[in-house]
Amino acid sequence: MKAVILAGGSGTRLWPLSRNQYPKQFLKLRNMDKSIFQLTLERCLKLVGLAEIYIVTNINYKFLVLGQIEELGYRFDVNHVLVEPSGKNTLPAVYYAIKEIQKQGDDIVVVIPSDQLIDNEEKFIRTIKQGENIAGKYLITFGIRPDKPHTGYGYIKPALPLEQGYTVDEFKEKPDYETALYYVENGYLWNSGMFMFHTDVFTEEIKQHNPEVYEAFKSSDIDEIYERTPSISIDYGVMEKTERVAVIPLNIGWSDLGSFDALYERFNGDENGNITFNGDILIDSSNNLLYTNKDKTVALIGVEDLIVVDQKDALLLCKKDQSQKVKEVVDRLKNTN
Ligand code: GDD
Ligand code: MG
Repeated sequence: MKAVILAGGSGTRLWPLSRNQYPKQFLKLRNMDKSIFQLTLERCLKLVGLAEIYIVTNINYKFLVLGQIEELGYRFDVNHVLVEPSGKNTLPAVYYAIKEIQKQGDDIVVVIPSDQLIDNEEKFIRTIKQGENIAGKYLITFGIRPDKPHTGYGYIKPALPLEQGYTVDEFKEKPDYETALYYVENGYLWNSGMFMFHTDVFTEEIKQHNPEVYEAFKSSDIDEIYERTPSISIDYGVMEKTERVAVIPLNIGWSDLGSFDALYERFNGDENGNITFNGDILIDSSNNLLYTNKDKTVALIGVEDLIVVDQKDALLLCKKDQSQKVKEVVDRLKNTN
């Protein structure tokens, strides 16, 4: 089995913590001594050996990837860091790795994003390994039981039981709120963003459902490939279209660090539901997330449900529940710079 770590996203919804030049997967959050990428790599090492891991990243992050692996004390084969000339979302990234792996022969591949935290690693390993039994037939997803109608995730409808997991009737990426609500009430699971399949099964499905990406990768010049390939996620580009999806439920402490709201939910607040990192002073205030600067004391009085992210050159004040829109700030910044 091979593992592919996706580490090329720019993490715009965590601005100004996550920056284009230093995105969230490389950040050491709160009191953590390792970045989310480093934790992901170590988790992968419980599934496969170092030589079986491929990391797909953007040209801008190549040295961050290598530097963070070195910091962990590993000697990693630079040829297994696959550098995309530009970000074209996850379908080209995954297919790039598949093509590299196929040079050594077909194999089972597990795809792991680098923007997640997982609490129960033992159970994670056991569940992922179950997928090997059905990877020759299906594109396997790992499903998380949802607790709210989140619009930033994919939704999976399990159908008939298989030797492991279930067949899937429907895969729907990022539905609107009403649809998500219906899904949560009707037994759908969240897509964890991890996948497992056999390389030849994946190749058949991308050829059928996304011939543009498939054809682009026939070139041997990576720059040419990335000029030609459309930008599309694996979720929209293949998983929504193929009829060969299976889902294995993954009952572990799982959090996607997609937004400040997700971050708030991941860390434990104090008795008033406030999360602070630097001894800020809160009076008559509750359910706030303060990600502030060490050199500055911040005080809140009578404030509820606020996200405060204070960095040297940028300050974000955002109402909780609206942090998905932080991406729009980054879009505006791009347009004005
Ligand atoms: N190499 C590379 N190139 N990696 C990328 C690129 C790219 O162009 N774009 C994103 N990634 C990486 C990100 O760094 C992240 O680790 C992973 O791929 C997933 O991309 P996201 O952009 O974070 O996807 P998402 O969170 O909106 O949605 C996906 O994950 C959800 C769960 O967290 C989907 O798979 C959803 O269906 C799923 O629910
Ligand atoms: Mg994500």
